[in-house]
Amino acid sequence: MSATPLGEIHPFAPETLADPHEYNRRLRAEAPVYREPNTGLFLVSSYEAVVEAVQDWETFSNRFAQAMGSGRTPPPEVQEAAAGGYRVVDTMLTADPPEQRRFRKLVNRAFIPRRVATFEPHVEGLSHELIDAFAADGRVELMSQYAQLLPLVMIAEQLGVPREDLPQFRRWSDGFVEQLGQMADLEGQVQAAKMIVEFQHYFAAKLEERKREPRNDILSDVATATVEDERPLDVPESLSILQQLLVAGNETTANAIAEGMWLLVRNPEQLEAVEADAELLPNLVEEVLRLATPTANMWRVVTRDTELAGVAIPKGSFVLLRYASANRDERVFADPDRFDVRRQNADTHLAFGQGIHFCLGAPLARLEMQVAFRTLIGRLGGWRLAADAEPPRYRLNVLLRGLEALPLEFRERSGPPWS
Ligand code: HEM
Repeated sequence: MSATPLGEIHPFAPETLADPHEYNRRLRAEAPVYREPNTGLFLVSSYEAVVEAVQDWETFSNRFAQAMGSGRTPPPEVQEAAAGGYRVVDTMLTADPPEQRRFRKLVNRAFIPRRVATFEPHVEGLSHELIDAFAADGRVELMSQYAQLLPLVMIAEQLGVPREDLPQFRRWSDGFVEQLGQMADLEGQVQAAKMIVEFQHYFAAKLEERKREPRNDILSDVATATVEDERPLDVPESLSILQQLLVAGNETTANAIAEGMWLLVRNPEQLEAVEADAELLPNLVEEVLRLATPTANMWRVVTRDTELAGVAIPKGSFVLLRYASANRDERVFADPDRFDVRRQNADTHLAFGQGIHFCLGAPLARLEMQVAFRTLIGRLGGWRLAADAEPPRYRLNVLLRGLEALPLEFRERSGPPWS
């Protein structure tokens, strides 16, 4: 039986989004840079071509948000909803140098590995607190009861949000992510604009507080950020950065944690290997990042006529870098769909991107993942999919990939497997 021609597969069809791996494999084999006929997008799926594009940031620009909205005045309903808010500034992820470089320099301090390492006892305490809440039940919906909460509570605390405001904070975080991955209708755009205004007023007040009385947290770093040769951040810039931290950091980390446990559950021999040797935990994190690739796709907009892997791409084209595909490129990763916690080159994955936009939060995400796996596996054993559960499904999002829910069963251990 001959395979469906590539052009007859829509990259955003629910079935492709739910299970993109075979489509990605065919893209890599047949057209690593592919002008997709249904959408007009250029899909970049091989490791080599993705690396070439991310290195050439002058041609493959991150000003995609601006380009997508260019020339369009928002509808009056959206303008009305946005009235009373601060101007939204394109910061790191949606900017190019020199602006992107300036923002990164100013907030970098909050995310350097040495600083992030000091958060470890706190992340560990938080993880135990979350596990305490379900450990006696023998089962957990890991996504909502754990994976989404660990990064959310952590960043909420770092941004000075008290526990009672968590539900509201979570709504903002989910809303911003929703906006990023979907083409919102008018109602969706109005809701998004209202949410941004709400978020801005809440955090403008908090930034003011931290400016007066800095503490040892990320909010204070943003509020007081200065470097010698750069103009300090103004309020709209600081707010846009905070917004971007939520968009970039919460769902991605949650998806990585949940996918990691799902991989371990489906590959008990790999789980046993980690249970037998705690030193495998850092490489487990990298191998999970490679296979999960929570930021499965990322936009670029092309600033001049160019060529990539022999394919001409005209100025103004939109490109989708398929990080999830690059991370399963058989020319880089042997037997790429296999989950192998001992894989030698797991850490050469592109799950955090590469080049000037390399994930600012990578040290924090790695720390949270490592603590999550150490504490979940350390305290609980016999992990398996809940007996009454359907096979877990993926959320349908153009950029971010992750499970909708992950109902698991386990038993409490008498002691950690490593002691
Ligand atoms: C497992 C979790 C995470 C994954 C998979 C991930 C993935 C990525 C990727 C692929 C990029 C590059 C995008 C591009 O090429 O344009 C990126 C950028 C970024 N990430 Fe992450 N991220 C994660 C966690 C975090 C966290 C926890 C934070 C902060 C709290 C964060 C903040 C950012 C920011 C600010 C950028 C933009 C940097 C720039 O453009 O200069 N990320 N992330």
